[in-house]
Amino acid sequence: MHPAATSGGGGVDGSDAKGGGDTLESGGYHRDSNHKHMFSGVAIKITLMLVVLGTTLVLLNQSSYPMTFFRNHNSNVFSFHQYTSPVSPPTSSVGYPQAKDENIELEKTLRNATMKDNKTVIITNLNAAWTEPNSVFDLFLESFKIGNGTAHLLNHLVVYAFDKTAYERCKAAARLHCYAVMTEGVDFSGEAYFMSEDYLKMTWRKIDLLRTVLELGYDFVYTDADVMWLRDPFKKFYADGDFEMSCDHYRANYSDLSNTANTGLTYVKSNNRTIELYKYWYNAQEYFPGRHDQDVLNMIKGNPFVHQIGVEFRFVDTAYFGGFCEPSKDLDDVITMHANCCIGIQNKMHDLTMVIHDWKRYMALPSSNRNSTIRSWTVPRICG
Ligand SMILES: *[C@@H]1O[C@H](CO)[C@@H](O)[C@H](O)[C@H]1NC(C)=O
Ligand SMILES: *[C@@H]1O[C@H](CO)[C@@H](O)[C@H](O)[C@H]1NC(C)=O
Ligand SMILES: *[C@@H]1O[C@H](CO)[C@@H](O)[C@H](O)[C@H]1NC(C)=O
Ligand SMILES: *[C@@H]1O[C@H](CO)[C@@H](O)[C@H](O)[C@H]1NC(C)=O
Ligand SMILES: *[C@@H]1O[C@H](CO)[C@@H](O)[C@H](O)[C@H]1NC(C)=O
Ligand SMILES: *[C@@H]1O[C@H](CO)[C@@H](O)[C@H](O)[C@H]1NC(C)=O
Repeated sequence: MHPAATSGGGGVDGSDAKGGGDTLESGGYHRDSNHKHMFSGVAIKITLMLVVLGTTLVLLNQSSYPMTFFRNHNSNVFSFHQYTSPVSPPTSSVGYPQAKDENIELEKTLRNATMKDNKTVIITNLNAAWTEPNSVFDLFLESFKIGNGTAHLLNHLVVYAFDKTAYERCKAAARLHCYAVMTEGVDFSGEAYFMSEDYLKMTWRKIDLLRTVLELGYDFVYTDADVMWLRDPFKKFYADGDFEMSCDHYRANYSDLSNTANTGLTYVKSNNRTIELYKYWYNAQEYFPGRHDQDVLNMIKGNPFVHQIGVEFRFVDTAYFGGFCEPSKDLDDVITMHANCCIGIQNKMHDLTMVIHDWKRYMALPSSNRNSTIRSWTVPRICG
């Protein structure tokens, strides 16, 4: 419904959870060679579980309510028990490599980058395709500089560099905290086309690393690099809640799980609930082969186990945290602007450049001269 997508290292954008029923496969043991070793010990158990799950999914696929049970656990046909047993999450750290050295490196980076008062960092993903001169990453950095009260936040920005070019580009920019992501046997340096195998590996590697950040005790704001930061989001985030995220479409209630999550901007507090959620989310990729992190989150967000974990989701309003899917109406309110609902670097570049122009035009005038035209976006033009 919303053919929203991204390409390159920035992460994943708007897709629609409602399509969820269509590609579930019954015997779909994920053939991700990088992670296979982690699961080998429990492979047989998982296979058995998958048979059960597969049967359930096939039944669901044929029903006219493809994904209802993931969302609406209070109701009807699919009982709690039926649901939880096949997709039960890990109860321990089984399946998680304890890469000690990696954690030490990451912790060093986080310690240097953190906001001292509250152990919070800002994290983004970067690969070579997004680092060309005058590319998305430049616009991203520029947005912090021209945003109102956002320049200081750059001091706390951690860049997950997925390849050597991205790492060097990050190092060349003053102040940034660069973390070289090791992913065995994968070269992320090209444009990882949206939903390609490499693209998916990158998104799941990101989820894995974000869990580690939580385990190390840091809160984070994860942002795709195609999110323009124009005001300080901490002024608008909810004080309570564990996991806040932007959405493609906001349905007027911050706690309503039917909001379509867009994980391109998430604010996550470090606690046992969010750590469990990240483990569960990461493992869920095995059950939804070929899906990216955002799709999978949309499919598991209403799930009874997630409910049991007790994690509090909050969806932030597109009036403040907008995107090309649903732009904010008034630049007086805008905090971030995301190039979601947009496929391809060139298209993103085009419309994001207009975002920067719109913002400069807006900021150049005193508030008394900002009429409704000045306070509106001229985008999306190519995107959307
Ligand atoms: C954390 O501290 C920084 C300043 O160090 C501040 O800008 C930010 O708003 C704080 N965040 C929260 C959630 O309090
Ligand atoms: C920018 O921030 C300052 C200080 O918070 C505020 O007084 C001013 O109204 C803001 N300007 C805009 C355009 O948001
Ligand atoms: C901390 O980060 C700054 C960049 O903001 C960098 O210049 C410095 O070398 C880093 N220190 C350590 C110990 O990594
Ligand atoms: C928000 O949505 C949830 C779930 O649909 C509902 O339980 C809750 O009452 C709603 N809250 C408000 C303030 O409308
Ligand atoms: C998780 O819970 C344990 C025991 O209740 C507690 O000691 C620990 O600090 C918690 N960890 C986090 C990150 O909140
Ligand atoms: C707003 O102001 C601009 C110039 O400052 C002008 O071109 C535009 O027509 C005005 N729009 C409205 C709705 O008055």
